Amino acid sequence: MFGKRDEFGNAPKPTPPVAPAADQPVAPPQPNVQPQAMGGAAIRTAMEQTQNIGAAAPHIPELKVQATAPPPAPVASDKTPEYYATKKTVFDTLIETIDMSQLAEMDNETTRAEIADVVNEILIIQGGIMSIAEQEELLEDICNDVLGYGPLEPLLARDDIADIMVNGADKCYIEVDGKMELTNIKFQDNEQLMNICQRIVSQVGRRVDESSPICDARLMDGSRVNVIAPPLAIDGPTLTIRKFKKDKLTLANLVNFGSISPEGSTILEIIGRSRCNVLISGGTGSGKTTLLNCMTQFVDADERVITCEDTAELQLQQDHVVRLETRPPNLEGEGEITMRDLIKNCLRMRPERIIVGEVRGPEAFDLLQAMNTGHDGSMGTLHANSPREAISRMESMITMGYSLPSITIKEMIAGAIDIIVQASRLRDGSRRITHITEVIGMEGDVVVLQDLFTYNFDGEDANGNIIGRHESTGIVKPHFWEKARYYNEHEKLAEALTKSAALEDNFA
Ligand SMILES: Nc1ncnc2c1ncn2[C@@H]1O[C@H](COP(=O)(O)OP(=O)(O)OP(=O)(O)O)[C@@H](O)[C@H]1O
Ligand SMILES: [Mg+2]
Repeated sequence: MFGKRDEFGNAPKPTPPVAPAADQPVAPPQPNVQPQAMGGAAIRTAMEQTQNIGAAAPHIPELKVQATAPPPAPVASDKTPEYYATKKTVFDTLIETIDMSQLAEMDNETTRAEIADVVNEILIIQGGIMSIAEQEELLEDICNDVLGYGPLEPLLARDDIADIMVNGADKCYIEVDGKMELTNIKFQDNEQLMNICQRIVSQVGRRVDESSPICDARLMDGSRVNVIAPPLAIDGPTLTIRKFKKDKLTLANLVNFGSISPEGSTILEIIGRSRCNVLISGGTGSGKTTLLNCMTQFVDADERVITCEDTAELQLQQDHVVRLETRPPNLEGEGEITMRDLIKNCLRMRPERIIVGEVRGPEAFDLLQAMNTGHDGSMGTLHANSPREAISRMESMITMGYSLPSITIKEMIAGAIDIIVQASRLRDGSRRITHITEVIGMEGDVVVLQDLFTYNFDGEDANGNIIGRHESTGIVKPHFWEKARYYNEHEKLAEALTKSAALEDNFA
């Protein structure tokens, strides 16, 4: 049997690793358990030791394991303390019985089949009474613990979830359709949750424990992960996952969701094509990264794009893309690579466009400089609740790192940024693009903004859903007209703006 040591105590020959299917995530490393070298006798002893858990072995039907992993249940059922006790015994025996070091070399299906065999034997020796359904549930749970992310697996398999938020072992929330829901997913205890957090972050070479309790990471599928552990998180390890959407949202999807009107989407497309410098502003989870991704779809295939992110989330479709990611300091406090370092380095990499996942600090200065020095079409996102606030956030971020006069910073901003797109998550959970705003220049010491396109609220329907309209403000020849004309997009732009103008307001 694979993974078990033979009766002479030799580790089995490794099976050649099977390349995972393209859509199958790579098997994560094994849990934090030390494999023990055991001979066949020891395997038997370990198994026999479990006999004291049950009385005489009743008939336990053999588990049938499907070649592919069974589809996960939408949410885990409530489990009893006895279930967890049995699972722990079976799990511990399994860990002692099989050679965990071999698991990393196996593909998931083979490993699952092997684990099923061993679990089946252990259950027979233990002799507890379990229905087939319970055994299958136990096997699924154990496989998830050994191969994946334990109780999180069913949630990770769903593509309709935007966020998974685990607040200690007993509480796990998800966000679906813009609404927060409490699930009945529970972890055995905080230790199991912490092991899973550790497993997740170790895949990207990071660690999380009491001495370094905050960690950003990402799953193999690209989902963004944040872990904050005790003692900072008072009620147990807290894990937040921004799920990666398998089917990337496009502007056409956003139009279907009503996040933007077809004309608004055309305007965004033209902004992307005409190499305007764009700032995407919005609150947490308002859809900034999604929008940035959508706008990069209009970057020409022959442009060299460099992306800089804290946790790589963007999925640009072009061939000529270089992806860069920051690095936190190591335990000795050394080796940190900041966003500023990345943007500065990027300037030496002959970029045509620089895309910054999220501007949080003094790197705002470097991005503006890049925008001001010929890297037209650069883009970034930033947390702010309105285009006006985006400007002042940018200013205060630069003030954090440089002692420049306010007017100089404002002039820099006005000179660099062409467009601010505002994304919002409304109180009904929906996401809307509420402003497409131009940065026109300076008047005195004020940066002048001009809304081109806004979302105007009308009220709400009987179900509490917000109703409103996307309208252009009536400006048909915006400030970036010349850029659009240079890329031969000006007529399309005028048409989209005219078509979406609120008639009674503008032509009365
Ligand atoms: N217009 C939209 N309609 C429906 N869902 C959306 C829309 N835009 C984004 N989403 C979903 O909302 C979630 C959050 O989106 P996104 O990651 O783009 O937000 P964000 O503003 O970048 O968040 P953060 O501030 O955490 O970085 C994702 O699951 C995404 O798929
Ligand atoms: Mg984001």
